[in-house]
Amino acid sequence: MTPTAWPRAILDGDVVVGFVMANFDPENELAAFRCGIWRLNVAADQQGRGVGRFAVEGVAREAQSRGRDRITVLWAPGEGGPEGFYLRCGFEPTGEQVFDQLLGARTTTTASRPAG
Ligand SMILES: CC(C)(COP(=O)(O)OP(=O)(O)OC[C@H]1O[C@@H](n2cnc3c(N)ncnc32)[C@H](O)[C@@H]1OP(=O)(O)O)[C@@H](O)C(=O)NCCC(=O)NCCS
Repeated sequence: MTPTAWPRAILDGDVVVGFVMANFDPENELAAFRCGIWRLNVAADQQGRGVGRFAVEGVAREAQSRGRDRITVLWAPGEGGPEGFYLRCGFEPTGEQVFDQLLGARTTTTASRPAG
């Protein structure tokens, strides 16, 4: 296990509804790996009810408690991908690309929702 990794199961009562893994590695040479989400999966039958947003806010709170004001995430662009979800959660593309994925970033304070 990478010592900087922050893996968490997401529970609804006793039921595991998702998994999120963040990484907090302020010294990492790549900005994309210093403070942000590495993996996020919500169980297929639990999607669309706020579990993913809950996970993003949990990572944001953890980052804030570590004195960070910004979190990042990488996503693969394209149809059927999580881009729309991350935009709804307040991430904005930085214009950088890492391993064919787009880098998004947002503040750790509660994001304002884009209109629409
Ligand atoms: C992408 C994923 C994490 C979203 O989790 P979720 O629990 O279904 O999302 P939420 O219910 O919290 O949705 C939050 C908002 O994003 C929107 N949203 C969710 N998925 C979306 C998508 N694919 N495209 C556009 N908007 C989306 C929701 O409608 C909701 O909008 P609101 O602001 O109007 O409420 C989940 O669908 C998933 O695990 N997908 C498969 C794996 C994956 O793609 N992981 C991410 C790559 S690391």
